[in-house]
Amino acid sequence: MRTLGVNSRLKPFGATIFAEMTALAVKHGAFNLGQGAPDFDGPEFVKEAAIKAIRDGRGQYARMTGLPELTKAIAERFEKTSGLSYEPERDIVVTCGATEAIVDCISSLIEIGDEVVMFEPFYDSYPAAVAMAGGAAKVVTLEAPEFRIDEAALRAAITPRSRVLMINSPHNPSGRILDDAERAIVARVATEFDLIVISDEVYEELWYETRHRTLVTEPGMRERTIVLGSLGKSFSFTGWKVGWAIAPAPLAAAVRSAHQFATFCAPTPLQVAAAAGLSAPESYFNEFRAEYRARRDRMVSGLRACGLRCDSPQGSYFALADHSEFGFADDYAFCRHLVEHGGVAAIPPGAFYLNKQKARTLVRFAFCKKDATIDGALERLAKYRNRFDSGEFAAAGTTNAASV
Ligand SMILES: Cc1ncc(COP(=O)(O)O)c(C=O)c1O
Repeated sequence: MRTLGVNSRLKPFGATIFAEMTALAVKHGAFNLGQGAPDFDGPEFVKEAAIKAIRDGRGQYARMTGLPELTKAIAERFEKTSGLSYEPERDIVVTCGATEAIVDCISSLIEIGDEVVMFEPFYDSYPAAVAMAGGAAKVVTLEAPEFRIDEAALRAAITPRSRVLMINSPHNPSGRILDDAERAIVARVATEFDLIVISDEVYEELWYETRHRTLVTEPGMRERTIVLGSLGKSFSFTGWKVGWAIAPAPLAAAVRSAHQFATFCAPTPLQVAAAAGLSAPESYFNEFRAEYRARRDRMVSGLRACGLRCDSPQGSYFALADHSEFGFADDYAFCRHLVEHGGVAAIPPGAFYLNKQKARTLVRFAFCKKDATIDGALERLAKYRNRFDSGEFAAAGTTNAASV
C-alpha cells in the first residue's frame, strides 16, 4: 500500500502556527491578538445587502469571472484610488479570497521548476502556493527594523528561471508601505528581468499617515502586474472570503484559467454585498481608516509602555514589536510563554520567514480588535511585565536567555 498523507511538496509546511496559537488562546483563556481577524462585525449596509441577495433568491453560481455588478464596482473603486481604468469584464477576476487569487496566479503562470521571488517576512501562503505549483521560492529578506527593499539583494536573487516577483504593501506583518524609491526599484528590476509581478495590496484601504499607492502606476508595470484585493480586509469580513485580481487582459485570462477549475466562482450573495460595499461613499473609507488609526495608536503606545520596542505601522492592522528585553530564546518561546503565563496570544513571525532566525526577537500583534480586547490584552501585558521584572519567571526557570 502507498504511504498515505501529504506529498513531499507540501510536507515541509506542516500545520500553520495560527491553529496552534488559537488553540492555546482558548486553552488559557487568553485575549487573542494572534490571527488577523477582527473580533467585531463589518458594516451593517454590507450585511443587509448579503441578506437581501439571499432573500431575493440569488443562490446559484455566479458568472465565473465575477458578478458583473462586482467587477464593475472593483474597477470603479480602483480607478478612484489609483486613477487607472480597467475593463471590468476583461481585466478582473473575483476569487474566494485573495488567497485563492494567489494560488490561481502562481499555478497559471509558472512552469514546473520556475522560480518565484518573494520578500520575507511574507504572507505564509506564498511559498506554499509556489510549492503546490511545482515551483521554487527564492526569498529576499527585508531586514528588521526598517524592512526596506534592498536593490542589490533583490538583484542577487534573480536567475534565468525567475518568472514572478511577489510584493506586498501595505505589508503584513511589518505594517510598512513601500516608498517611492522602493516602488521604483521593483519597477526597474521587474522590467529589466521581464518578471510578472503579483502586487498583494489587500490592505490597500488600511493606510494611516502615508498614503498607499498601487505599484501599477510605476513605469512599465501596468502590463506586467496583477493587483490583489480583499473584501475581508477592507470591510472586516474575513470569513466571507471574497477577493479579486486586477490585471491586463493576458494575465487576467491566465488567472481565470486556474480559477475556473479551482472554485469556479465566489459565493453569489456575498459578491452582491461586496459590490454594495465597494460602492460606498469616500466617508466610509475615511471613517474606517480613522477607527483603525485609533486602534493602532492604542496598541502601539500600550506595547511601548510594557517595554516592547515597536515602530508605529504605516498600514495594515499589525504591530510588529521586539521582545528581546524579555530574554527569550526566540519568538516561538516568547509567544508560547506569553499565552500561557500572560494570557495574551500573539504570532511568532518565524511563521513568515524561511530564515526563521531572522524573526527571533520579533512578535506580531493584530490590532483589528475591539477597544475592550486591546485594553484587556494590554492590561495583562503590563501585569506580565511586572511579574517578569519581579523575577517571578526567572525564578521558575522559564525565562532569561537560552533557558527557555
Ligand atoms: C498579505 C496578505 N495577503 C492575502 C491575504 C489573504 O486574504 P483573503 O482573506 O482575502 O484570502 C492575507 C490575509 O491575512 C494577507 O495578510
